[in-house]
Amino acid sequence: MDTSAEALTAAKRAAGYVAADMVEDGMIIGLGTGSTVFYALERLSARISEGLRVSGIPTSFQTARRAQEYGIPLTTLDAYPVIDLALDGADQVDRHLRLIKGRGAALMREKCVAAAALRFAVVIDEQKMVPVLSGRVPVEVIPFAIRPVMTCLRGLGCIPSLRDGIKKDGPVITDNGNFIVDCEFGEIGNPEELEDLFAKIPGVVESGLFCGFTGKTTVIVGNQKKCRIITSADVIP
Ligand code: 5RP
Repeated sequence: MDTSAEALTAAKRAAGYVAADMVEDGMIIGLGTGSTVFYALERLSARISEGLRVSGIPTSFQTARRAQEYGIPLTTLDAYPVIDLALDGADQVDRHLRLIKGRGAALMREKCVAAAALRFAVVIDEQKMVPVLSGRVPVEVIPFAIRPVMTCLRGLGCIPSLRDGIKKDGPVITDNGNFIVDCEFGEIGNPEELEDLFAKIPGVVESGLFCGFTGKTTVIVGNQKKCRIITSADVIP
């Protein structure tokens, strides 16, 4: 696997372009957040200038701004509670098409949009395909409950840490006005159970585990030469 920066960029662009080419005229699409899906936006922008008609629902302020720059018309889940296709990136994908998301702190809106979509296209580079999900799982938490939530998260067997801003003093504040807690795990043996356990903690708004969408998910694994496409039909139980 070529892990140079150029190869990575080419792989992300290839995956993003394949995903954008899945979009059909008249569709309402979810617009995820992150560097890989932004290549899908780039390609969509070109297709729109050639006459494609679509509207997108952005999953973050950053994506909304990028979509506006690219001339992609925007709409909302209020107008379209069910949408045709969501495009998004991921931090890790396992062989059952379960995901970890949330490096960009947009996980809550990303999950809402993925849930509303009939199909979910996930764009990644090869390094993100893993045999077993592991490591950091981001969790969005309301500031009011941060102390008791941290205690509960420790009880799940992880090391939680409040995510700090880069060009801001203090914690990251999400687009929804909440904190992000990064939960460091080893290998995650049962991601569905862990996603449910997160959801049961009062004050946890959402977690970055996406286990409930595997049946409608297509993963596009970017490569400079030819992208690999994985759907639920390819998953060996
Ligand atoms: C943002 C996300 C991103 O989709 C995920 O982190 C992948 O980003 P990138 O394509 O830049 O690696 O979940 O919350």
